[in-house]
This record gives sequence, C-alpha cells and structure tokens, in this order.
Amino acid sequence: MGVINEIVVVFHLLSMAAIVGGWLAAGRQGRIVPSMVWGGRLTVVTGLILVAIAEMIKTPNHMKIGVKFGIALAVLGLGEIANSRQRKLAIEQPALVGGGAPAAAARAASPAAAGVGSLVDAMFWLTVLNVAIAALWRSYS
Ligand code: HEM
Repeated sequence: MGVINEIVVVFHLLSMAAIVGGWLAAGRQGRIVPSMVWGGRLTVVTGLILVAIAEMIKTPNHMKIGVKFGIALAVLGLGEIANSRQRKLAIEQPALVGGGAPAAAARAASPAAAGVGSLVDAMFWLTVLNVAIAALWRSYS
C-alpha cells in the first residue's frame, strides 16, 4: 500500500504543478489553459484517493483534510467557471483569448476578460495556500 500511496502522491504533486505552471505560463496574462482546468480536477481526485489509502493505514488529520478539500473544491469551481467564461469570450471576442502581447493588452482593457483573469488569479493563490497547508500543517499523519 505504501508504494501505491507514493505513486498517487507523485500524481497529486504533478496536478498541483499543472495549476501553478499553467498560471505562470498564461494565467498571469489573464488566460486560463487546459493544464489549470485539469490540474484542478486531478488534485481533488488524487487527494481523495490519498485519503482513502490513509484511512486504511493510519488515522489522518480530518481537520486538515477537510480544509484542503474545501479549498480544492473552490479551486476546481473557479477553474470550471473561468474556462466556460473564456469559451464564451472565444466565440464573442476571439481577439481577447489568444497568447502574445497584443491580446494581453486587449484583455487588460476589457471588463469581460478581467472576469476570467481574476478567477484564474484566485485559483493560483488558493493553490499556493493549499500547498502551504499541506507542507506546514505537520500534525496530520
Ligand atoms: C489545490 C489542491 C491541493 C494541493 C495544492 C495539494 C497539495 C499537496 C501537497 C504539496 C502535498 C505533499 C505534502 C507532503 O507530503 O509534505 C499533499 C499531500 C496530501 N494531500 Fe493534497 N493538495 C490539494 C488537494 C487535496 C485534497 C482535495 C485532498 C483530499 C481531500 C488532499 C489530500 C492529501 C493527502 C492525504 C496528502 C498526504 C499524502 C501522504 O503524505 O501520504 N489534497 N497535497
């Protein structure tokens, strides 16, 4: 069970990295990319598998898990809403959703694009918060 737990931890960490990396690559310019959406989904899935394994082999800290789960659900929801807003924007104003400096400048001047950018930023900072909770709240296992 130990090795399975460690393999799932690897995927859990890669899911988190997909959110952080996606934000560094595109989120900072106010865009959401698939790695952020999928990272949000997979942190929850892999986190729940880790909890299931932990329940079998030890007594996990349920308070810590509950806090992380709540934050992760918020990250997931923000990602899904930002993604659907950006899809709508891609149909209505395609110039606002591309990469590169001109599109970033157009987004900065658009309230509709700001609605995606602020969700993506919140997603990133809540993910950082969950990493801090995971690493600093040490009395969990
Ligand atoms: C944005 C969401 C999340 C982030 C960024 C995140 C981050 C992390 C990190 C960095 C670790 C490694 C900590 C360490 O070993 O020192 C970890 C471990 C863990 N996470 Fe998460 N997590 C998230 C969501 C969740 C969720 C939703 C759950 C469960 C409901 C969960 C359950 C766990 C468990 C049980 C471990 C311990 C694994 C072990 O050491 O055996 N996580 N998480």
